[in-house]
Amino acid sequence: MRILVAGGAGYIGSHTCLVLLEAGHEVIVADNLCNSKEESLRRVQQLTGKPILFYPVDVTEEAAVEKIFQEQHIDGVIHFAGLKAVGESVEQPVRYYYNNVVSTLTLCKVMKRHGVNKFVFSSSATVYGENAIPFVETMQLLPTTNPYGETKVMSERILTDVAAVEPDWSVALLRYFNPIGAHPSGRIGEDPQGIPNNLMPYVTQVASGKRERLRVWGNDYPTVDGTGVRDYIHVMDLAEGHVRALEKLCEEKGVLVYNLGTGHGVSVLQLVHAFEKANDLTIPYDICPRRAGDIAEFYADASKAERELGWKAARTIEDMCRDSWNWQRQNPQGYEV
Ligand code: NAD
Ligand code: UD1
Repeated sequence: MRILVAGGAGYIGSHTCLVLLEAGHEVIVADNLCNSKEESLRRVQQLTGKPILFYPVDVTEEAAVEKIFQEQHIDGVIHFAGLKAVGESVEQPVRYYYNNVVSTLTLCKVMKRHGVNKFVFSSSATVYGENAIPFVETMQLLPTTNPYGETKVMSERILTDVAAVEPDWSVALLRYFNPIGAHPSGRIGEDPQGIPNNLMPYVTQVASGKRERLRVWGNDYPTVDGTGVRDYIHVMDLAEGHVRALEKLCEEKGVLVYNLGTGHGVSVLQLVHAFEKANDLTIPYDICPRRAGDIAEFYADASKAERELGWKAARTIEDMCRDSWNWQRQNPQGYEV
């Protein structure tokens, strides 16, 4: 298939482009590079030996998206083009709602005009709010407490409403848990701008000496060791889940919702120790007060994706720790060479 990957130069997008190309699909990327570098796409082409057609456009701009659909035959769309920093979304709600919701609307609008009806959407476990664990696809969604999370809920609703009146549409809402890791080559990976908010990029920067010590946000949660528990998933497993979902959309119409996680919770300290062991390094850390807005523990019920997509996360926490460090070690400045 010929797939338009919106936001394909980013962390999850670049790994998905690689897996799509390796599975024999053709890839067209639309990305305004607001949180990424074109270098990621150059490396994906290098790794696969296959070309990517790149449009440096903002997918909230209808005319720019329309031009892509006029110039290219497209069979389906994967939409990664979102802003994703939770704290920033609280400070800049208009920018977040505009970017993340209008991008979804614009893609729907142009797709409909061109008779393209397969849509894979990057949603997040954040849509479950503080539900009971494990999170199951059938749960009623709860408030997410920040604009970022609300943009995911809104986009899911928009796509569900569109599919309800367009009988030929098939939509996959993929709820990611916590993606970490990198391609095993260490050529592509996560390249956060500024000080990382997420745990793994912070850990790798402490390992490289770029940051002094990790701050562990709270050790008084009702969890295995008091620190927060998450369902970390290797980005390559996640990327493969997208290709399986896309193939499923060729067989089924309507809205399909899948958790993409491992089904296992890992605490902050368990992750830190696994990282130390996998890479033979020490990560100095301090226990600090809880971070506002954090949930104690969540992980996926990942059985639906296994049952219906034949997809199951295969890589271990050790693989994730090794590959994250391999990427950071080889690219201490990210894609800035
Ligand atoms: P990322 O920032 O690395 O990738 C997003 C890409 O989209 C970037 O290349 C950015 O330049 C591009 N982009 C953003 N707005 C755009 C626009 N209007 N037009 C064109 N390009 C635009 O983030 P990621 O980690 O790869 O996440 C991809 C998607 O998955 C996002 O929608 C994010 O919300 C969602 N998600 C991520 C996580 C995570 O932990 N990384 C978890 C759950 C959901
Ligand atoms: C965060 C977002 C979430 C988003 C997800 C993936 C918040 C409140 N939530 O989730 O909406 O979907 O990223 O982008 O920002 N931790 C530390 N020290 C650090 C960093 C993190 O102890 O320096 C802890 C956190 O308290 C948490 C765990 O590590 O227990 C994972 O944190 P993080 O990687 O930020 O992911 P989430 O909190 O799950």
